[in-house]
Amino acid sequence: MGSRAAARLPKHIAIVMDGNGRWAKARGLPRQVGHRQGAENMRTIIQACLDLGIRYLTLYAFSTENWKRPSAEVDYLMSLPGQFYERERHLLHEHRIRVLIIGDVDGLPAATREVVLRMQEETKDYSALTLCLAFNYGGRAELARAAQILARKWQAGELASITEADVADALYTRGLPDPDLVIRCGNEMRISNFLLWQSAYAELYFSPKLWPDFSKRDLELAIEDFAKRDRRFGGVENV
Ligand code: IPE
Ligand code: IPE
Ligand code: MG
Repeated sequence: MGSRAAARLPKHIAIVMDGNGRWAKARGLPRQVGHRQGAENMRTIIQACLDLGIRYLTLYAFSTENWKRPSAEVDYLMSLPGQFYERERHLLHEHRIRVLIIGDVDGLPAATREVVLRMQEETKDYSALTLCLAFNYGGRAELARAAQILARKWQAGELASITEADVADALYTRGLPDPDLVIRCGNEMRISNFLLWQSAYAELYFSPKLWPDFSKRDLELAIEDFAKRDRRFGGVENV
C-alpha cells in the first residue's frame, strides 16, 4: 500500500460477506461448502486488518432476514460461530482481539448463543482489534429495539429529550466509532439492512469478488480507493 493510503486508513471497516452460495454453485458444490469457505476467509481478512493496523472490523455474518432460508442451511450457519471459535480461539488471544456480538443474541439457538457470549466474555479486555460480529443482526430491528429502550427511559423520566447521541447509545454498537468504509462483496449494490444508522456517512465500496475469494489484496484495493475520497460530511471540499 502507498504511503498516502496508509495516511488515510479507515479506523473502522465493515464488510457484508456476500457470495458464499454462488461461490459453491460455481463449483457444483452445496451452499454449505461456500459458507464453510467463507468462514475460513474471515481469518484471512482479520489477519489482514491486524497487518494493516485497522482497529475495528465488523463482519455481517447472519441477518435477521436470513432465517427465511431452508432450515438445513440456517442450521449450518448457526454452527459456524462454534467452528470459528474452535479454530480461531488461539488467534483471538494471541493478537488480543476483542469480539463483540451485535444482533439479537436472545433469538439464537442456545448452543450458538452460549458460544458467542463465551467468545465475547473471554476477549472483553482486549483492544488491539475489535472484531464485531453481526449475527442475527438487522438495522431496522436494531432501531426498533433502540426506540423501545428510549421509550422506557422516557417513561421512567430519565430523558428530557431524545438526541442523536441517545439513539446511538441505545444501539448494539454503543461506544463504537461509526464505520468509515463499508464494503460489500458478491457483486450486489445494496445494503441489505446493515448498519443503517451507523453508516450515514460511511464510504461505500462494492467488490465483484465473492466473499470466499475476497483477499487481502482486495481489501487493500478498497482501502486505497477510500484514501482517494473526499469526505465532506455535508461541508465543503477539504483543501
Ligand atoms: C453470504 O453468502 C452469507 C450469508 C448471507 C449468510 P450468501 O449465502 O448470501 O451467498 P449468495 O449471495 O447466495 O451467493
Ligand atoms: C446480506 O446478504 C447478509 C449477510 C451477508 C449476512 P444476503 O445475501 O442475505 O442479502 P440479499 O438477500 O442479497 O439482500
Ligand atoms: Mg447473498
